[in-house]
Amino acid sequence: MLVSYSVYYKNNIFLKMDQNTKKHRVAESVLDLIGNDEILGIGSGSTVNILIDHLPKMKNKISKVVSSSIKSTELLKANGFEVSELKSVGKLSTYIDGADEINGYLQMIKGGGGALTREKILAHSSKRFICIVDDSKKVNILGNYPLPIEVIPLAQSAVALELIRMGGRPVLRQNFTTDNGNIILDVHNFMISEPLKLEKEINNIPGVVTNGIFALNHADMLLSAGDNGVDISEPIV
Ligand code: A5P
Repeated sequence: MLVSYSVYYKNNIFLKMDQNTKKHRVAESVLDLIGNDEILGIGSGSTVNILIDHLPKMKNKISKVVSSSIKSTELLKANGFEVSELKSVGKLSTYIDGADEINGYLQMIKGGGGALTREKILAHSSKRFICIVDDSKKVNILGNYPLPIEVIPLAQSAVALELIRMGGRPVLRQNFTTDNGNIILDVHNFMISEPLKLEKEINNIPGVVTNGIFALNHADMLLSAGDNGVDISEPIV
């Protein structure tokens, strides 16, 4: 497994903070932003898994929790939460999730864990979307990370051909089925200079359920953990 290390000075000694430590820092920091009576949406992935472990501390502030994946639901239940259906709660007050890449407009690539469709539904259904990442996820232009696209299985070849026509190199995610029973194509070679435009174009291909560009549903706030602590930022306007 690849571990990214950053090195910094403190009290004249070198300290190394690995990516996992940063994930812990940011997951703990976001707890301070949870208000009273939250109807909380919870994303998926390793950073969110850490958050879920800390969430019982905030239980008195959370009125309802909705989850974006089977895995997060299991973890929430194991931590003593009853998990509600989105349709029974309506709008979420806050949605918290990680990202695979995020730019200054707080547009993201998500779906590395394959939960992008439910994540996008929750992001769209929330008043406030807080993204939590370690600083390795921050980029100027999206696209170095292969773009996940959830596809209905029978449309695999048709969608793949269209993506190739658009300049991408789709690769079928092996031995993987989404929580919705579909496949994922991970698309390499897209440098995404216009995220909104590409998000809409890919969504227009018949057979595509969701693509992992979160531009229409970008985050409202970013918490990013680096060597010097956790930075909070809002989208560039
Ligand atoms: C899950 O489908 C993804 O969208 C995750 O939010 C994203 O991959 C970030 O995951 P990590 O926190 O594991 O990096």
